[in-house]
Amino acid sequence: MLRTHTCGDLRADHLDQSVAICGWVDKYRDHGGVVFVDLRDRYGITQVSFKLDNASEIQQQAQELRHEDVIQVTGTVLHRGEGNINPKLDTGEIEVLAKALTILNKSRTPPFEPNGESLPNEELRLQYRFIDLRRRELQENLRLRHQICKATREYFNEQEFLEIETPILGRSTPEGARDYLVPSRVHEGAFYALPQSPQLFKQILMVAGYDRYYQIARCFRDEDLRADRQPEFSQIDIEMAFIELDDMLGIIDGLVAAMVKEVRGEDVTLPLPRYTHAEVMEKYGSDKPDLRFDLPIVEISDLVADSDFGVFKNTVGSGGHVRGLCVKGAADKYSRRILDNDLKGLVGEYGAKGLAYFKVVGGKLESSIAKFFNDEQQTAIVERMQGEDGDLLVYIADNWKVSCAALAALRNFLGKDLELYDPKSMQTCWIVDFPLVTRNEEENRWDAEHHMFCSIHPDDVELMQTDPGKVRAQSYDLVCNGYEAASGSIRIHDPAVQQQVFDLLNIDPEEAERRFGFLLEALRYGAPPHGGIALGLDRWVMLFAGSDNIRDVIAFPKTQRASDLMLGAPNEVDARQLKDLHIKVELPES
Ligand code: AMO
Ligand code: AMP
Repeated sequence: MLRTHTCGDLRADHLDQSVAICGWVDKYRDHGGVVFVDLRDRYGITQVSFKLDNASEIQQQAQELRHEDVIQVTGTVLHRGEGNINPKLDTGEIEVLAKALTILNKSRTPPFEPNGESLPNEELRLQYRFIDLRRRELQENLRLRHQICKATREYFNEQEFLEIETPILGRSTPEGARDYLVPSRVHEGAFYALPQSPQLFKQILMVAGYDRYYQIARCFRDEDLRADRQPEFSQIDIEMAFIELDDMLGIIDGLVAAMVKEVRGEDVTLPLPRYTHAEVMEKYGSDKPDLRFDLPIVEISDLVADSDFGVFKNTVGSGGHVRGLCVKGAADKYSRRILDNDLKGLVGEYGAKGLAYFKVVGGKLESSIAKFFNDEQQTAIVERMQGEDGDLLVYIADNWKVSCAALAALRNFLGKDLELYDPKSMQTCWIVDFPLVTRNEEENRWDAEHHMFCSIHPDDVELMQTDPGKVRAQSYDLVCNGYEAASGSIRIHDPAVQQQVFDLLNIDPEEAERRFGFLLEALRYGAPPHGGIALGLDRWVMLFAGSDNIRDVIAFPKTQRASDLMLGAPNEVDARQLKDLHIKVELPES
């Protein structure tokens, strides 16, 4: 070993010991007679001093040290002296007086300092990711990621789960995003698809008798990227046979508790709360509500149907809804300009045509439109909203879908803006009883809400014929702080039921056979009842890290445009490679 200790190890109990440490030059200060260097590795920072009276040759070398040089120092651990202790560093009580210095690698002038005052733009950091990854925050995030994986493996290993790998080169899976395709050299004109998830393989493993499977699986989806999405991401993927919905949720409750215990040392109260899809849509307007704060949606349609305010009256008259929020003590928080421009603009992005608002004053409403509501209506509204003087009431009148989406966005904005929660806290819950299908009006058909292998809620089988939109699936999402953190379902294990669902989705038997023939075939050869789930690993690390950028928890992430700036990927390839693959590239005319 080139070192006896790391840069985070040394304390006052090492005084006078001879040590060797290695690391990167984080900072250097030349005080004439003495050169101080902060030496960094992923364990911490240790101050090294080079003194003239010590050995002038080293001192000269030390004067030439610059940011990010990699060095080895041997020397003696000394106390810094009372006035010089740095309480911000774990090693702040000591320093290493250098006796010998070896420059292991001289760095070019780095484009930025990993622990510098200001962070450069993300593009530069992604291009020089090897320097960016030296930052404390990213090191902490990757350590967290490791801890979560470790806790996950320990948890499942203890319970007889088998970790089984599934192929990367496969066939299109039905998660619904665009596939990444890989051309085959051997099979001219044919392509593999990278898996969007191991969904079909894990179901087949159940048929094959591996009744408890897990895998930390890489998934690939060519979709529009957002702050919480990457084209290449990881799932904690699980499938079990001979279980029911409650068993599955119980197992995952335990996993969440194990992760929280490992990372934060805290005990989670189990079972995690469960809400139905209908419940949360009504109360929070979203199937991934942020439950760190309350701020529920309240409906007042019945109270305003006969009011003189045309917008409300007509909306209710045509079957729409008037719903809103009571924002405690916020009557004077937002100016009219902000309400009429910024907040109206925000809800407008979700299709809302306006935002009506009132202050509660003396138990009544106050605003430019308050005059359209009589005394009785005003009192009833304030009461329904549980409003008190000084509260702000905001409303959207629209159809159910728009009112949900717009109020959910407004609720999230207000929660954050008014600091209604501790950003470090985590609130996790289950959402169950999702609809099996949603209506795709544009294409006039039913689409699967999760995927087409979800089983039907036992109470809703009859509805399949009469009112498919009302059928609930045996599916479940785990939601944490407003993110969809996991998703899964109990599967269909009966080929006849599977065909019924395909029929509803307008997938004819030939198409089903062509796309998932191997799964349907497997279901015909002894398929046990089974179900599973996948947790978005990257999202969980984000949540634990309190970050809202998924790229900060992945060692080598891709940009919003799906490029790797360090590698320069994707890139053009040799004509020769293309020829081998029988591919001719035709670029669109620009
Ligand atoms: P689903 O498609 O809902 O389910 O994915 C499961 C979880 O993976 C995470 N996730 C993502 N994370 C980062 N970037 C992405 N592009 C991305 N897409 C999804 C989310 C999500 O909840 N096979 C099913 C699971 C099952 O039924 O067992 C599946 O993949 O946190
Ligand atoms: P108007 O009658 O268009 O001048 O609107 C009067 C007030 O009602 C304004 O504050 C609008 O933002 C608000 N408003 C208009 N349409 C809606 C709607 N669909 N839902 C809620 N408020 C609305």
